[in-house]
Amino acid sequence: MTEMTQDVLVKRIGYEAERINSYELIAQRGGELTPFTAGSHIDLHLPNGMLRCYSLVNDPRERHRYVIAVNRDAESRGGSSFVHDTIRVGDIITISGPRNNFALQEQAEHSVLIAGGIGITPLLSMIRRLEALGRRWDLFYAARTRAAAAFLDELGTVRSDHSRIHVDFDDERSGRLFDLPAIVGNAPAHAHLYCCGPVPMLVAFEAATADRPADRVHVEYFQAREAAATGGGFDVRLARSNRTIAVEPGKTILDALLDAGIAANYACTEGVCGTCETRVVEGIPDHRDQFLSEEEQAANKSIMICCSGAKSRTLVLDL
Ligand code: FES
Repeated sequence: MTEMTQDVLVKRIGYEAERINSYELIAQRGGELTPFTAGSHIDLHLPNGMLRCYSLVNDPRERHRYVIAVNRDAESRGGSSFVHDTIRVGDIITISGPRNNFALQEQAEHSVLIAGGIGITPLLSMIRRLEALGRRWDLFYAARTRAAAAFLDELGTVRSDHSRIHVDFDDERSGRLFDLPAIVGNAPAHAHLYCCGPVPMLVAFEAATADRPADRVHVEYFQAREAAATGGGFDVRLARSNRTIAVEPGKTILDALLDAGIAANYACTEGVCGTCETRVVEGIPDHRDQFLSEEEQAANKSIMICCSGAKSRTLVLDL
């Protein structure tokens, strides 16, 4: 990871729901932090060497703090459980960003926001921004149970006469389904639609919005939708240094580069954050990410080296 970093102080940790804590981060020496826009995330550089991306939930007008929320994932690979188990108030941690891959279209007259579980986090920041702008929005928020749904209290304080909040809990459903096709079907044609949540919800959302203009449909994946390409058996040539690195079976391109001592940008390692995007000079990538659009993948001008492989014997990258 070679991106610019900064150290921040953990000022407050809050309990937001079962397995979900919020973390308020301020500049280590006080003062203002880099401004951010709704939908942005920061990367936490954890002391165990892991990098994890977390959406900012607070109001983008705030300059004095970043607030993130971390769900202790039952299948944590060491990121969320490490944050819950080891980060304490008063700790100094290293972050990079903020960056925004899920930007709010502020000019839209109507926004429809769909959240599943911890996917509420970027949408909460969007709600604060939309309220500040006086725009119309609807939130559809699904969670397993009321106790597992973060920020219900905060949402309860939103008093907006031009917007609506629908919450839906798996265990209180009484026969009614969280009906994504109906939610999408009822949204005005000019609305911008946003979805953030577990992979099955995002896949269903993409299917339900397939007929809508692509520039009005916005998704943010927290996790990979498909496995990384680790079949190996190809070479990566680095155009700037003219070095050639063999990508062996069992390795991603990023693994092979790091093993060879080559500094490369990365964060999520799941093809969702965009940090590792690298320009393709020659060759055909085997795209496995959720970051590039279908059109961008078809153009083969860039590749997410953390998860994508090669369909050609050699890939020449702008590194
Ligand atoms: S490191 Fe996040 S997309 Fe590759």
